[in-house]
Amino acid sequence: MSLFRLDASILPATSASRSLGDLVEAEWLAAHPDSTVVRRDVAADPVPATAWQDAVTAGFTAEADLSDGQRSATALARGFADELVSADALLFTVPLYNYGVSQHFKTWFDLVYTDPRTSPTGTALRGKPATLVTVLGGNYAPGTPKEGWDHSTAWLQRVLADVWGLDLRVVHRPFTLVGVNPALDEFTDLARQIHAEALSAADEAGRVLAKAS
Ligand SMILES: Cc1cc2nc3c(=O)[nH]c(=O)nc-3n(C[C@H](O)[C@H](O)[C@H](O)COP(=O)(O)O)c2cc1C
Repeated sequence: MSLFRLDASILPATSASRSLGDLVEAEWLAAHPDSTVVRRDVAADPVPATAWQDAVTAGFTAEADLSDGQRSATALARGFADELVSADALLFTVPLYNYGVSQHFKTWFDLVYTDPRTSPTGTALRGKPATLVTVLGGNYAPGTPKEGWDHSTAWLQRVLADVWGLDLRVVHRPFTLVGVNPALDEFTDLARQIHAEALSAADEAGRVLAKAS
């Protein structure tokens, strides 16, 4: 058995998304001891920004005319797709940055989306069990002053669940900056409650992931 885990935090030492991901992973490993975890840290080891256009243009370039960049980008995409296709379960931990999706995750996704198996017409990931952990410094829930400003979570769900067809469970923890940013001090109790719920949700997601894989 194998679990593919992708992390995207740019601050791994203090990462809330990685901590929640660790709980998911621990539950999965408890059910599948002696299994492999394949790790990809897209913040520590970013995908080159030029790889995507090289891989896209390789798709309509004759084999004999391919540049070195196009060949290596296509090979990189193939390797990333291999990691997804060969895993029994998938775990993604992706924070919100600048009101949008992590650039590192987007760059990885765009590239892997050029491989035929994980492309718009690929079906290789359909039904594969997966967990998405996503964390936000603020809180953009309905009724909050900045409702709708989280342009990451819905997109992540769209591409993972609707486009790839993963059997996706989401662990969502807003307000990670409460206790860090004094302007958010009034939300201390609410943030504590949200954190506790996220910890339980991560444990549960790990158990569900383990059972489904
Ligand atoms: C450069 C940067 C930009 C951020 N932008 C936002 C933002 O737009 N909205 C928000 O709610 N939180 C934002 N945050 C806060 C992060 O989402 C929050 O700290 C989260 O916990 C980071 O994930 P991590 O703990 O796994 O590293 C930002 C953090 C950093 C470092």
